[in-house]
This record gives sequence, C-alpha cells and structure tokens, in this order.
Amino acid sequence: MRVAVVVGTRPEIIKMSPIIRELDKRGMDFNVIHTGQHYDHEVSDIFFEELNLNSPDTYLGVGSGEQGEQTGKALIGLEKAFKKFDSSTVLVQGDTNTVLAGALAAVKMGLKVGHVEAGLRSYDLRMPEEHNRRLTDHCSHLLFAPTENSADILKGENVWGDIHVTGNTVIDACIQNMGIAEDKALVDLPGEYVLITAHRAENVDDREILEQFIEVFENIPLTKVYPIHPRAEKMFKQTRLYDKLKNVEGMHLIKPQGYLEFLMLMRNARYILTDSGGIQEEATAPNIKKKVFVLRESTERPEAVEAGFAEVVGTDSGDILKAIDDFEERGWKPGECPYGDGRAAGRIVELISG
Ligand code: UD1
Ligand code: UDP
Repeated sequence: MRVAVVVGTRPEIIKMSPIIRELDKRGMDFNVIHTGQHYDHEVSDIFFEELNLNSPDTYLGVGSGEQGEQTGKALIGLEKAFKKFDSSTVLVQGDTNTVLAGALAAVKMGLKVGHVEAGLRSYDLRMPEEHNRRLTDHCSHLLFAPTENSADILKGENVWGDIHVTGNTVIDACIQNMGIAEDKALVDLPGEYVLITAHRAENVDDREILEQFIEVFENIPLTKVYPIHPRAEKMFKQTRLYDKLKNVEGMHLIKPQGYLEFLMLMRNARYILTDSGGIQEEATAPNIKKKVFVLRESTERPEAVEAGFAEVVGTDSGDILKAIDDFEERGWKPGECPYGDGRAAGRIVELISG
C-alpha cells in the first residue's frame, strides 16, 4: 500500500499533520502532495516548518482562480501525481476545492479514497465548502466522521463507503503542539484581547458584511487581535475599507500567524469572533476552551454549539454585539470537548492499514 496525503490549504496541513506523523512513526510508505491552492509562506510553508514536517514530495502550483478553474487544475495535477507516485490509497481532509479534486481524481483512477472529517453539513448551498464535502463523502470508500452526529448524517444519506467515528485530528494537533507553542511561539500577547478571524467567501466578498464587521469591532471596548487572511485583506482593500479597519481603536491588524502563535493567541483570548470552521473545533480542545461567536448564518459544527462553546450570531452588527453583551453580563461555563480524545490520527491510520 502506498498512501497519498493530499493537502492544499492552511487547515488541511494542520489537520493532516497528526496523520503524517502517525504514518511516519509506523514506517508506512506515503507521499505528501501539495496542490498549491495556498502558496504564500504564512498560509502554507510556515506550517511544515513549525510542525516539523518534511517538505511535500511535490507541489502542483494550482494557485488561485475561479472555483471550477482551481478545482479543475487540481484534478489534472493530482491525477498525474497519483500516477507518478503509484498511490493506492488517497487521504483528503475537510472541504476545500483541493479535497474534492483529490477524491474525484482518485476514485476515477480506481484508488481507495479516505475522507478525513466526513459528514459535516451546513445545509447552505451558497458555500463552496458544502458542495465539496457532500460530493467527497459520496465518492469515498472510507469516511472518517469526527463525531456520532456526523456519522448519523452519512448513514442518513446512504453513502456507499464505510463509516468510522474517529474524533477530529484537530484535537490531536492542539494536544501535540500546545507544549511546543508555550516554549517556541513568537507572538506578543497584549493583556486582555479579543481574537478575530474572517475569510469565508460569503462574508468577505460582500462589502455590506465587511461594514457590519467594522461596526462590531468599533463597539468592542477591548484590544482586538486580527490576523488577517489573504482573501479578507484583498477584499478589505478592494472595497477601500482597509484603512477604516486598521484605524479601529485598539485594533492589532497582523499578518496570518503560524500555528504555534495562533494556539497561544486562542488560549489567551477573552473570546473569539470567527467564521472559521477549524477554530470552532479548536476552541473546544481541553487546553483551549474558549467561547466562539460564529460570524455566519449556519454552522456545520453543531457539536461545538451543543457543548456550549460556539454561538452562531450571523453577520448583523446589532445581533453580534447583543450576543457579546449577553456573554459579558451572564458569564460562561465551558462544556466538554465533543471532537474526541486527541487520538483520531492513530485510529485513521489503523483503519487504512487494516
Ligand atoms: C480556502 C477554502 C476554504 C478554507 C480556506 C482556509 C475553498 C473553496 N475554500 O479558502 O474552505 O476555509 O481556504 O484558509 O477551497 N490568496 C493569497 N495567497 C494564498 C492563497 C490565497 O493571497 O496563498 C488569496 C487570493 O487572492 C485568492 C484568495 O486568497 O484569490 C482566495 O484563496 P482560495 O484558495 O481560493 O480560497 P480561500 O478563501 O483561501
Ligand atoms: N490558523 C493559524 N493562523 C492564523 C489563523 C488560523 O494557524 O492566523 C489556524 C487555526 O488554528 C486553524 C486553522 O488555521 O487550525 C483554520 O484555518 P482557516 O480558518 O483558514 O480555515 P477553516 O478551518 O475555516 O477551513
């Protein structure tokens, strides 16, 4: 068996890192294939460096583009790469265009496809991620569901692959790296602060929503640390709102952070405002445990809501500020992590080996 581990964006590298470590530890034959969907150092290479991973065996240089163009380029490149490396099992993680391309290329070549983080649904078909995760689940042989809830969704959809509940590898990553972050993270932690991220297309590609976000930031009387994603930076600049954002009182607008730095930023934040998927999960990790206001209309991570960590607050400034006020007034008691025990990668590698 020769395993191809496909990555393309920041969260895939982070969430695949425990699996890569596990494959390595067991002396298994594997290649890491990077589509190059993300290419700037701070959203790609920095994670290989900080997580102590070997460089990918190949970069496909797909880059940015329209949805179909990017997915199509990745599909073509991945088919060639699977041939070159004589892959027999392909692992994809999550819901990016890279993931759909990897699963599709592999299933058409008769290779075994394993989908890590299967069974998530936002039921919001505006989101490219929802297309990607649904289609990938339906062409995978092995579906690694992070929770019982995601496994039930897959059973309800009659997917033809085998479903296994494994936990989410993001918890493995938090547990494996927090100690290293404590020693090595190069980040200034300003007293008490709110941590912010936003990058989802349905948010940052909409000027009105960017204006709502700025209004929220202006009304939070605390320091705000905002490591800005390249897509969001581009859109704040294109809409000429970037200076307004930068000049919000107490705003620390910084470049995207490395994982070790971001772990420390999460752990020490008062609360988090985000539209990220991975951050909703990480906030529930036993060594982070933070309240997350989800700047979206829906979440494919209801477990984080049920466990009391995430609250879906939409994108209207009044609604977001009201939710924050309620939190400040009433306080908050975190629940238990719903995403597993930090040993998901071991289970996944065991299952592909068997
Ligand atoms: C992608 C994923 C999203 C995931 C996110 C992780 C899809 C459809 N979206 O969104 O699910 O949450 O990655 O961060 O797969 N850019 C740069 N430098 C880079 C990469 C991108 O400047 O290295 C800019 C470009 O202007 C590009 C834009 O960001 O057009 C969007 O990049 P893209 O990879 O298409 O999607 P993301 O928004 O990053
Ligand atoms: N992250 C990071 N640096 C940052 C912002 C996020 O390392 O400046 C990490 C974060 O800890 C999480 C992942 O990136 O593991 C989330 O990626 P993103 O929000 O881009 O994508 P999503 O999870 O929404 O697909």
